Amino acid sequence: MADSILVPHLADAMVRVTEQAAIAAEKLVGRGDEKAADAAAVDAMRQAFNAVDFQGRVVIGEGERDEAPMLYIGEEVGTGRGPEIDIALDPLEGTTLTAKAMSNALAVLAIAPRGGLLYAPDTYMDKIAIGPGYADGIIDLDASPAENIQALARARGCDVSQMTACVLDRPRHADIIDSLRSAGARIHLISDGDVAGVINTTNPMTGIDMYVGRGGAPEGVLAAAALKCVGGQMQGRLHFRNDVERGRAARTGIEDMERKYDLSELASGETVFCATGVTSGGLVSGVVRRAGGEVETDTLVMSSADRTVRRIRSVFPAG
Ligand code: FBP
Repeated sequence: MADSILVPHLADAMVRVTEQAAIAAEKLVGRGDEKAADAAAVDAMRQAFNAVDFQGRVVIGEGERDEAPMLYIGEEVGTGRGPEIDIALDPLEGTTLTAKAMSNALAVLAIAPRGGLLYAPDTYMDKIAIGPGYADGIIDLDASPAENIQALARARGCDVSQMTACVLDRPRHADIIDSLRSAGARIHLISDGDVAGVINTTNPMTGIDMYVGRGGAPEGVLAAAALKCVGGQMQGRLHFRNDVERGRAARTGIEDMERKYDLSELASGETVFCATGVTSGGLVSGVVRRAGGEVETDTLVMSSADRTVRRIRSVFPAG
């Protein structure tokens, strides 16, 4: 393994951070209150960070300082001792999924040595992603969804009708869906949670070959950090709805607003990615409360330094 400042100690510590966020959010599953669920996850994640010996800085967080009381962009976390680390986080990826007790809600974060993650503003991002095993450059955000899925089918030596693309179910994606359907591909629509949507392209068991569409830019960087650990390709381009969002991008240091980023620019440094299930989904199981009061969590933790993917099931004592 290449010299790593993240593995094993920080990686293990980060598992504890997403575990605590997921356990806190689980109490709000099915209660119809997205904000309360998010706040519980944020609070628990912040407390857990502050027990870790590192100089953590949130580069992708809950928003800008004046709009987020905790885990805002630029907030310093940790004990202040140890390595300087950048953090991208989403304490609750899938607030609606949690409020409605639907599958695939996660507590997620990625870390990298300082400067190793794109400082993406809280705007939208157009994204396309595939798992490992394809020739470099086979997908292109500027090609149509049909052209991309056809290129993948050719590379796989199969008919496009065998290929599946994952797309967020939003009216804005009507053209993408038309393009994919006209090519003959299957479409796996998801109601929320495009970090998992991207990661699922890396697992043949999911049957998802490509992710495409517009979602959150922070989620784009988190997904890129995950792909960096397991292989795959991804491109993203920020999308702004107005000048306020352009202003946000300028404040995070983005100069070229039209730039198409590839995976190595979205996540340029060594990364560790952790996701703990809040509710069960294709990636991990949700939090389970046992009859005796013990709490069980399921976490996916991946590291780019040693290219490992681990599943950690933890059981916390009652009380
Ligand atoms: P939240 O956890 O903030 O609810 O985000 C869920 C999510 O589905 C993301 O996975 C995705 O990137 C984004 O929302 C899409 O945004 P929108 O709901 O505005 O289409």
